Amino acid sequence: MAETLKKLDDLVALCKRRGFIFQSSDIYGGLASCYDYGPLGVELKRNVKNAWWKSVVQTRDDMVGLDCSILMHPMVWKASGHVDKFADLIAECKKCNTRTRVDHLQGVENEETTHHEQPEAAMAKDGLNDKVCPKCGTTGQFTEPMPFKLMFETQMGANVDDSMKVYLRPETAQGIFTNFSNVLNTTRLKLPFGIAQIGKSFRNEVTTKAFIFRTREFEQMEIEFFCVPGTDEQWWEHWKNERMKWYLDLGIRKENLRFRPHADDELAHYAKACVDIEYLFPFGQGDWQELEGIANRTDYDLRQHQRGMRSITKWFENGRDTEKTPLVDEPDDWSKGPLSYFDDESRKRYIPYVIEPSAGVDRGMLAFLVDAYAEEEVRGEKRNLLRFHPSLAPIKAAVFPLVKKDGMPEKARTIYNELRQYFTSFYDQKGAVGRRYRRQDEAGTPFCITVDGQTAEDNTVTIRDRDSMEQTRINCDKLLGYLREKLGI
Ligand code: GAP
Repeated sequence: MAETLKKLDDLVALCKRRGFIFQSSDIYGGLASCYDYGPLGVELKRNVKNAWWKSVVQTRDDMVGLDCSILMHPMVWKASGHVDKFADLIAECKKCNTRTRVDHLQGVENEETTHHEQPEAAMAKDGLNDKVCPKCGTTGQFTEPMPFKLMFETQMGANVDDSMKVYLRPETAQGIFTNFSNVLNTTRLKLPFGIAQIGKSFRNEVTTKAFIFRTREFEQMEIEFFCVPGTDEQWWEHWKNERMKWYLDLGIRKENLRFRPHADDELAHYAKACVDIEYLFPFGQGDWQELEGIANRTDYDLRQHQRGMRSITKWFENGRDTEKTPLVDEPDDWSKGPLSYFDDESRKRYIPYVIEPSAGVDRGMLAFLVDAYAEEEVRGEKRNLLRFHPSLAPIKAAVFPLVKKDGMPEKARTIYNELRQYFTSFYDQKGAVGRRYRRQDEAGTPFCITVDGQTAEDNTVTIRDRDSMEQTRINCDKLLGYLREKLGI
């Protein structure tokens, strides 16, 4: 767990106090498990997404990006398995009527991945006689477990004859599968290659958890990496290592990260293998929880969408009722279907295999915040700071005049105006300089630049380092180059 962060409450308080994260609809008393990102939070979030995009798209020649709509044809979710299988198994306490995920009841293993499990399979697992209601504390008084569907539903279209039930996407992945041939036909990509997407997903979670850890609206950063069947295990290893390295390169401490392979009986219905990257979160006494899953989805999704495409006539015949429309069977020559790939070298047609590294933006942010959080004592005073990696820090540099006279504010503004052309900067002239440093420490700003009396004499300023608090003097002409080198921008 993070060195000094013993409980999440301190971080939640800092996030609210400094404008990182607010409860959604705060002035109305809040909306449970929905959050808004404030001025510092929005910068941090953008930096996390940019760092991911740079690592998996910008700097690779086997990856491209995509941005799909949240609403998709409802048969997408039939084909993917979500309409029939995306449910949590819940039980209701007979005393207080609170519904809880069965796998979250005390004494039952607490795993995120049970989401994709078939409810029936999980139902057979255990009796609930020794389980305790988390709300009222009653033991063993539960209804029979029942599946609770996780997809949010809404209605599309105004007219009776063209309106239909649609879903808010519960993962971004399916937009990538449904665009596989569009991307293939419009680029010169050949296998192996991947498609990356960042976007909102929605799940009507039964139990939400710990601030932004498990919410009902969240963002995902997902890759579907298409490869030749038979090379999938090697690409799975590749992505496991790449994704772990990403968290480490962005400063998360090694001892707070681990891989956790899924056992066979917890694998999602589409996966041949899956490993989670877990982070040691400060929930309770310290709690290893999933940050990201790296799954081998085989050819499951593309094959399922071929079945979905062939079922569209049936869907119309069934009055566009997705739940009542069964998928038609695969034909014998499914491997040559519309979502197959023609391999120029082997002169063969087949359905590619897929490796999927799937990460949560908000959950990643929480891990970066927790890991960066520190409390220190400096000359008898407490200082809170966020030791963000420079590329994640919401503000890269703050510029201060030591006092509001002798031309210092004007000079400081000139410097600030130059720096902000290159990276997010902040100007502050209010209060004692020591307090201004502390405020920037709490925001995680790596560098503070102060214009003082000496600046007018020799054109130098001081640069204060957030972590060491050391100050060095530098000539203003060299300032931008120095900062860009240190910040890696
Ligand atoms: N396409 C595969 C997929 O969606 P998942 O394990 O259900 O797999 C992937 O989700 C990641 O999305 C998780 O590792 C987590 O970081 C994030 N995530 C899932 N549900 C979430 C929720 N309710 N709140 C916040 N993040 C969530």
